[in-house]
Amino acid sequence: MDELFKKAALDIKQSKNIVGLTGAGISVESGIPPFRGKGGVWEKFDPMEYATIDAFMSNPSKVWKVLLSAMKDMIEKAKPNDGHNGLFELEKIGKLKTIITQNVDGLHQMAGNTDVIEFHGNFVSYTCLKCKNKITYNEIKLDTVPPRCKCSGIYRPDCIFFGEMIPPEALWRSKEVSSKCDLMIVIGTSAVVQPASFMPIIAKNSGAKIIEINPERTPLSGKISDYIITGGAGEVMRKILKEL
Ligand code: OAD
Repeated sequence: MDELFKKAALDIKQSKNIVGLTGAGISVESGIPPFRGKGGVWEKFDPMEYATIDAFMSNPSKVWKVLLSAMKDMIEKAKPNDGHNGLFELEKIGKLKTIITQNVDGLHQMAGNTDVIEFHGNFVSYTCLKCKNKITYNEIKLDTVPPRCKCSGIYRPDCIFFGEMIPPEALWRSKEVSSKCDLMIVIGTSAVVQPASFMPIIAKNSGAKIIEINPERTPLSGKISDYIITGGAGEVMRKILKEL
């Protein structure tokens, strides 16, 4: 295992253009549960009932009361962990250029990374469905649910519900940076949700090395990724950085 930390450090040293692809697992050590698996968000809340755009539009009050207020609460308390901080270290030394994240928690930006593509939007800003006014999470008051704008319109988070399109610019830029990087570090994603999970394939086909960091194997492991370092994001990033 120690060999893999050294190997990853060497791959990082030899790279000039690293892209990080992250999923819910990188924020687990910050107290935000993943979506799938034991203790995951989708074990508690049925995504068909709470996470589709149709579910939200047909009963915003129910979706706000159950899923969105719980997510907002978890995200508000969360701080970046050594996984996020490690990616910022890689940006500071000029190696990592961009992070593509499926997460909606804003923790990469809080850690300091400056080029973060939010593939599934975010939970940090909210838009009024009626007048399109935008506010940030600290302005959302949940004393009445659903939260409403001065114009009486309902606020929605700027995240993607199932059934909505990936923001075109996020998709376009993700494809672009994936095809140009020389190393992709894939951290904490089950790699089962398309099209995000297609980005390592684009990177691989364009000649990049792929390192996975995850306690579990994924559909990428042994096929698309060159190797997987099994373990939590924070612990693994700390050990890799020590070898740099
Ligand atoms: P998942 O919940 O599907 O997968 C989380 C991954 O993190 C799993 O592979 C875990 O093994 C791994 N993991 C758990 N703890 C970890 C730790 N401490 N360090 C590193 N990895 C750890 O989350 P995503 O792949 O991000 O979409 O899910 C993709 C999308 O599905 C989400 O963006 C969301 C969801 O439905 C939307 O909401 C549109």
